[in-house]
Amino acid sequence: MSKRIGILTGGGDAPGLNAVIRAVVLTARNHYDWDVVGIVRGFDGLYEGLPSVPLLEKDMRELLARGGTILGAANRGSPFAHPVQRPHGKIEYEDVSHVAISRMADLGIDALIVAGGDGTMAIANRLVSLGARVVGVPKTIDNDIGGTDITFGFDTALNTATEALDKLQTTAESHHRVMVLEVMGRDAGWIALHAGVAGGADAILIPEIPFDIEVVCQKIRQLKVAGRNHSLIIVAEGAAPIGGQQQYRIKGEGRHGARLGGVGQIVGDLLADCVGSEVRVTVLGHVQRGGQPTPHDRWLATRFGSAAVHLAAQEKWGYMVALQGTHMSAVKMEDAIKMKLVDVNSETVQMARDLGVVFG
Ligand code: F6P
Repeated sequence: MSKRIGILTGGGDAPGLNAVIRAVVLTARNHYDWDVVGIVRGFDGLYEGLPSVPLLEKDMRELLARGGTILGAANRGSPFAHPVQRPHGKIEYEDVSHVAISRMADLGIDALIVAGGDGTMAIANRLVSLGARVVGVPKTIDNDIGGTDITFGFDTALNTATEALDKLQTTAESHHRVMVLEVMGRDAGWIALHAGVAGGADAILIPEIPFDIEVVCQKIRQLKVAGRNHSLIIVAEGAAPIGGQQQYRIKGEGRHGARLGGVGQIVGDLLADCVGSEVRVTVLGHVQRGGQPTPHDRWLATRFGSAAVHLAAQEKWGYMVALQGTHMSAVKMEDAIKMKLVDVNSETVQMARDLGVVFG
């Protein structure tokens, strides 16, 4: 029987979202003969009733290599907390989840596929508990979603961060400087750890290991004694000193309202005081989220998108596709919401230490 599925991209964007959309449309059309409709601007577009877009096979041609999301993204909206401005400017939050659910019915959607991070999965899971038919696809450059070994978007961000370290390395060497690179990742240090190892950083500061700046200073001094007058330090935006606080560039409510940023400059200033070398700080920012997805992210996003359609066919509502080892699997959304952090006792962290990298 012919069905119609909807797809939305929730939260911030990540390279590979368009490849997911393409895989959903191609699998739905070719394998099941189902129609696909796109919901624009995430959950906001669903409950606000923004016009949906038919997604046709012929429109999917150039999507594999395209960054961003053709459906648009909104990384604050939730149907369970829709901001409404009251008289005198007061903002109150209303639960409009019933509107989101009835909109799915109005659109004739038999199943909704949501590609998003932990915030999106939390919303989707609540909608499922109210009777909505939703399956998930794990998206984030931060790689912090539980239940899956990897998320799409991470590899592209990792490439960008590693390339930045490579570039900083040559100029650091010319000027005998200490270069600090601040990367994204929220409360998880995956980008910093992997790029730090791949780009040969001397110190990797991650949220999972509170740092002592003196350890980093000592490392830089040791390198100088050994004849190396430059060094590379990578700092995750969520890193904090022992007993200290994370730095925010935007204050806001809750984990999804506030935005981390600024620790790189603090680390740079502290190092300038203790090592007697020139220090420069680069904040990589949103270039980590933009641009073409790497072949690995295209491949992973395609596998996820296709698997999500099969999950919908099996009526596995409340499940999210997940990569476990090399195997495509599915986990409950409630497991995806549990944040996946770097295991400080892992073989990877130990390997970096064995190479002489310090974690502060
Ligand atoms: O979760 C992805 C991410 O890029 C984080 O690494 C970062 O902290 C945050 O989103 C930035 O959000 P925004 O695009 O709203 O500034």
